[in-house]
Amino acid sequence: MSEPGRTTPAGTAPPTRPGPGPYRGPNGTEFILRAHDVYKTYRMGRVDVPVLKGASIEVKAGEWIAVLGASGCGKSTLLHLMGDLDQPDPGKGEIYFEEKPVNQQSRSERNFYRNRTVGFVFQFYHLLPELNVMENTFIPALVGLTRFSYYARRSEIHRRAQELLTSFGLGDRLKHRPQELSGGERQRVAIARALMNQPRVLLADEPTGNLDENTGGEILELLAEQHRAGLTIVMVTHDRSIADRADRVVELHHGRVVDPA
Ligand SMILES: Nc1ncnc2c1ncn2[C@@H]1O[C@H](COP(=O)(O)OP(=O)(O)O)[C@@H](O)[C@H]1O
Ligand SMILES: [Mg+2]
Repeated sequence: MSEPGRTTPAGTAPPTRPGPGPYRGPNGTEFILRAHDVYKTYRMGRVDVPVLKGASIEVKAGEWIAVLGASGCGKSTLLHLMGDLDQPDPGKGEIYFEEKPVNQQSRSERNFYRNRTVGFVFQFYHLLPELNVMENTFIPALVGLTRFSYYARRSEIHRRAQELLTSFGLGDRLKHRPQELSGGERQRVAIARALMNQPRVLLADEPTGNLDENTGGEILELLAEQHRAGLTIVMVTHDRSIADRADRVVELHHGRVVDPA
């Protein structure tokens, strides 16, 4: 399971496959998550639509990075690749988490990555309408549990979900269905769900894109609190003012990530 770290010698461009040893970024920094030279092409009927064309992004542990780009430029695609919800074109780029190539790992390691290592927040919440707020929140904790191990851990799981929801101001809405909540409240539930398994990185896809400015501001403040508590966040957005809440903004343009700094 464990694979040796990787190094880029100082002063040289990163090779396609970094060599052995702990990976160090250009300033000696260590990256927790990175996409390296990824390509993604969708096939629409008989036409290939290239979306990502050699996109690379490096995320440092503890930072909040925003990827800014026009609608349709491939932001969701890039975030899905980083969360292993989808894969780059075969042989065309790699996603590394702590320098392990995510999509070369075993099926169970990849399941662990998707379920435990990253947390995902979507623009349209993706809550399950037939479940209440508590149940929606603790779903990720049930993945891979047997009925027996669920009963053994039940009170711990419920306590974690309740604490998260209470800290997000939803302590009196635990039994409500998503339809009974406002957009901002639904997104709080979705963030609680994403944090349920204490992920190392939160991947947020236009988390305020469906909300009015005030409500969106509250969601950004909630993300900021998580960030101050040490969470690494990758957020994609088409909105410059939202991107500017992050520590660092990079832009996705013509299928590549450009650092405006
Ligand atoms: N599953 C898919 N099949 C075909 N085309 C897709 C698929 N997903 C996204 N696309 C296309 O890829 C481009 C980038 O989409 P997306 O990553 O959703 O952009 P963004 O999130 O920046 O708006 C768009 O032109 C979109 O229509
Ligand atoms: Mg999108």
